[in-house]
Amino acid sequence: MSPNKPHSTFNNSTQFIEGWYWALPSKELKVGKVKAVTLLGRNLAIYRGISGQAIAIDAYCPHMGAHLAEGKVEGDGIRCFFHNWKYDAEGICVDIPSLEKPLSVCIKTWETAEQYGLIWVWVGKEKPDLLPFVPELEQVDCDYSLGIRFIKNCHPNVLLINAIDAHHFNTVHNLPLEIVFESQELNPNAITFSNTTKGGDNSRLINLIRPLYQNEVTYSMCYWYGSTGTVTLGPDFLHFYIVFALRMIEGGKTEGQTIIITPKRSGCLGWGINRGLLWLTQQVGNYFSKGDTQVFQTIKFDIKTPTKADRSILEFIQHVNRQKALTWETWDVVENVENSDRTYPPTSLVP
Ligand code: FES
Ligand SMILES: [Fe+2]
Repeated sequence: MSPNKPHSTFNNSTQFIEGWYWALPSKELKVGKVKAVTLLGRNLAIYRGISGQAIAIDAYCPHMGAHLAEGKVEGDGIRCFFHNWKYDAEGICVDIPSLEKPLSVCIKTWETAEQYGLIWVWVGKEKPDLLPFVPELEQVDCDYSLGIRFIKNCHPNVLLINAIDAHHFNTVHNLPLEIVFESQELNPNAITFSNTTKGGDNSRLINLIRPLYQNEVTYSMCYWYGSTGTVTLGPDFLHFYIVFALRMIEGGKTEGQTIIITPKRSGCLGWGINRGLLWLTQQVGNYFSKGDTQVFQTIKFDIKTPTKADRSILEFIQHVNRQKALTWETWDVVENVENSDRTYPPTSLVP
């Protein structure tokens, strides 16, 4: 059995998990502006109305199909460029210039939210679930900055498991640590893998932060909707937080945006410290991404011969396959998924 077979959601270029997906940086969308965004194969126009709220609407005007991102924002609605039909924030047609009363026409809108400097869109049939967050920072007021935006030649699921691929920390990143993860599902769409590592005396990175702690470093991942991963790393009194917000693009590849986060500290000094910490966190992130760059250009992921160290990866695959799947481009629910497909890999394969 292969995780690449069509009915498994994991590493599948034709389907993805119902959930929150990042669309664009908040600061790229000023009040009164509209942007064209292609998200999981579907074309949207995302605009910011006068109330400041970001509104995501299907791209094509129900009249003749003009792309609404060519149009103009008016109040909290949008007016199509072509024949000036206007749609409100719910996508209801409220004005057709040539008619006294608009026709009863509407266009689908999608829930949005803003978190960590990004606009997120709820891609799903049902009511939105929780927005991705760093578990330790759920109720914490934070400073954040956007890191790098990147494209990778592999599926977001495959990219994410890198962070729980225990063995490769030794072979690729040169961290002489023994890593054993414990997993816990926070809810059906979020799973954490946590570890308290020991050792690391020969590593540059560990030595860099060694003066700040005694012997232990926390390392914990939280995966949301199989596509956004939060990393928590560091000694008890100073945790670094990096979020990898990923989404699938054409051909099952990945477009990602990293977010660097630190809890708010008060006063000018706190502001200065946080700028330094955000910079330092970015360096930690760069250290890890650099080592893996080339392998993600060429990998054809298939886990045929798992070892004990791969257990977390198999758990993540199962977690992904248990979630509700939608179809690329149409965003329709994937039907006819047999139960056996949802439980790949079979428990017998898990060492
Ligand atoms: S295509 Fe939009 S108003 Fe005609
Ligand atoms: Fe890595």
